[in-house]
Amino acid sequence: MKILVINGPNLNMLGIREPNIYGKSSYADLCELVQSAAAEFGCSVELFQSNHEGAIVDKIQSALGEFDGIVINPAAYTHTSVAILDALKAVALPAVEVHISDVSAREPFRQISYAGMACVKTFAGFGFEGYRMAIEHLMKHLQSPQSPQNDV
Ligand code: DQA
Repeated sequence: MKILVINGPNLNMLGIREPNIYGKSSYADLCELVQSAAAEFGCSVELFQSNHEGAIVDKIQSALGEFDGIVINPAAYTHTSVAILDALKAVALPAVEVHISDVSAREPFRQISYAGMACVKTFAGFGFEGYRMAIEHLMKHLQSPQSPQNDV
């Protein structure tokens, strides 16, 4: 199985940006965790990070025929981007949403997730561990795809 892990804007600043919310570990540390989760669950992963909405849309489109599923943290675009939602729906690959912080306990403008509407599951508030949980969930889903769609 091949999984594409997409991270949106400002996640390249992990370790520097708001460490009280996102922790002190870097994006490189996150990449390491994702690679070790892939080894643990027997899949390969490609990591992609961009600060640009269109680049994320292009990457999702290019996943068709190349990847079996997507793990995505669209960061701030979570709450604004119908384009990312539409791209996920267009390729119709199983996708799992991740947020490092517990967005449900934050500002009102973080309460909507467009991308989440095209995802089979969301993990939020588990720190970097959420990515491991997402890969595990996606692998189980790919092996027997009966999980319901997120209803957010
Ligand atoms: C985030 C939560 C978003 O609201 C925020 O804009 C981010 C990171 C998270 O991982 O907790 O950039 O997606």
